[in-house]
Amino acid sequence: MRKKIVAGNWKMNKTLDEAVALVSEVVNMIKDEVTGEVDVVLCPPALYLTTLKPYLEGQTRVALGAQNCHEKASGAYTGEISAPMLKSIGVRYVILGHSERRQYFGETNAQLAEKVNSALANGLTPIFCCGESLEQRQTEVHLDFVRAQLTESLFHLSPEQFANLVIAYEPIWAIGTGLTATSDQAQEMHAMLRQHIASQYGQEVADDTSILYGGSANEKNAAELFAQPDVDGGLIGGASLKSREFTLVVKGVKN
Ligand code: PGA
Repeated sequence: MRKKIVAGNWKMNKTLDEAVALVSEVVNMIKDEVTGEVDVVLCPPALYLTTLKPYLEGQTRVALGAQNCHEKASGAYTGEISAPMLKSIGVRYVILGHSERRQYFGETNAQLAEKVNSALANGLTPIFCCGESLEQRQTEVHLDFVRAQLTESLFHLSPEQFANLVIAYEPIWAIGTGLTATSDQAQEMHAMLRQHIASQYGQEVADDTSILYGGSANEKNAAELFAQPDVDGGLIGGASLKSREFTLVVKGVKN
């Protein structure tokens, strides 16, 4: 059975003190208040991962993730961080292909295929992001566009490798805009993605793949989004920066 997962993508936010405070609060709230089966992933700026790790000691439910990694293991790539480095400090997840990385840093489907390979080779779980622009949705090419993102970055993987991936559907027009996909729009895309995965890897692999929704998900809309049959949790930006809001989003997962 696939897992329910709520991941917080802090993006380029928080100073060290603020990051420590937020992690401590979230860990305590999750421990005290969340009873359902849900895995929580916190993705702070990479700079803080080592410092924050001890705050998660003994937590089975909360893990750390990075927001990106380079496709190469090491070398002359100034300013970059590799998958073996993340592994060496005990990070479990890595967000790959976020639309901001694609838009501002020019990441392509082909490059993301290499990043996914490196993450998997180092035992990290990629949270692979896909999603269309508003124009693509309005011109009704969104389903084909998102399908191609998966095909080009992921479908070279073996079924065994694919089983270690998480997908996040994040319509670009909903990220940080306050516009959320309706639960019907999210369900339509998630069901299509699951079917696309099944066409390549079979129904069992597709049924076991967690597909998260992201894009202005918050404590008000999370429960309805997460109640959709093919929505297995969320990738949360803005609402992950406040402990109470984020905990309420996590509590939106019903088992
Ligand atoms: P948002 O960001 O929740 O602030 O829209 C989501 C994301 O970019 O992962």
